[in-house]
Amino acid sequence: MSKVALVTGGSRGIGAAISKALKDAGYTVAANYAGNDEAAKAFTDETGIKTYKWSVADYDACAAGIKQVEEELGPIAVLVNNAGITRDAPFHKMTPQQWKEVIDTNLSGIFNMTHPLWPGLRDRKFGRIINISSINGQKGQFAQANYSAAKAGDLGFTKALAQEGARNNITVNAICPGYIATEMVMAVPEKVRESIIAQIPVGRLGEPEEIARCVVFLASDDAGFVTGATISANGGQYFA
Ligand SMILES: NC(=O)c1ccc[n+]([C@@H]2O[C@H](COP(=O)([O-])OP(=O)(O)OC[C@H]3O[C@@H](n4cnc5c(N)ncnc54)[C@H](OP(=O)(O)O)[C@@H]3O)[C@@H](O)[C@H]2O)c1
Repeated sequence: MSKVALVTGGSRGIGAAISKALKDAGYTVAANYAGNDEAAKAFTDETGIKTYKWSVADYDACAAGIKQVEEELGPIAVLVNNAGITRDAPFHKMTPQQWKEVIDTNLSGIFNMTHPLWPGLRDRKFGRIINISSINGQKGQFAQANYSAAKAGDLGFTKALAQEGARNNITVNAICPGYIATEMVMAVPEKVRESIIAQIPVGRLGEPEEIARCVVFLASDDAGFVTGATISANGGQYFA
């Protein structure tokens, strides 16, 4: 029987590429999303991958969502914590609400998803947790004190939990994408995009599929000796 993989924010952008790549690699995939029903429906129509709506910022909703996925598809072996948002503002203009929304989703979200799943992974003595952090969690970014703090927190979480999971064959790793050609990045004015590309030594944006391929490797049995690691996939823009 194929292993079950759950991808948060798995219906759009990088998450959609991850969901598709895991399906192509033979997993039964569940894609979670927050509220964009139209995009989720189009994604399911295109791929046949089931989508599930709840917010990763809500612990009880995560526990209930995981239960539903496991009842419908079987025990989850691979969790990709990909859901994320930005609420950018220079610090003197950043509101407590902007801070809270980003921390609740990008940092607490990975606790809320991983914690209810953890006992099952320990019992089954197998698991793969893959956290999608960001280059901006490694280097910091102007107008992203909230986002950079959350994404740096994801890396600390990854390293701590890797130590706890190891004896039960549960690996916990992170990927830090650089600038990827998703709707969000393609929506910025061309001039700004060009200035971003000028900072990337390979001379282009990354493709969502390039992050997805890193996920497929970390999820595989071949990656059993890789844990607590951070893979930087950023075209050489920053060496952590
Ligand atoms: N794009 C980049 O260049 C880049 C670079 C570095 C890191 N990242 C990270 O990569 C991840 C994916 O980014 P992306 O650019 O692909 O984002 P995106 O295109 O904006 O898609 C975000 C996905 O996350 C879901 N989501 C947002 N808040 C959620 C919540 N509270 N609960 C459940 N799902 C939620 C969205 O659901 P709906 O469709 O319902 O809104 C959507 O499926 C994020 O963690 C981001 O920080 C991105």
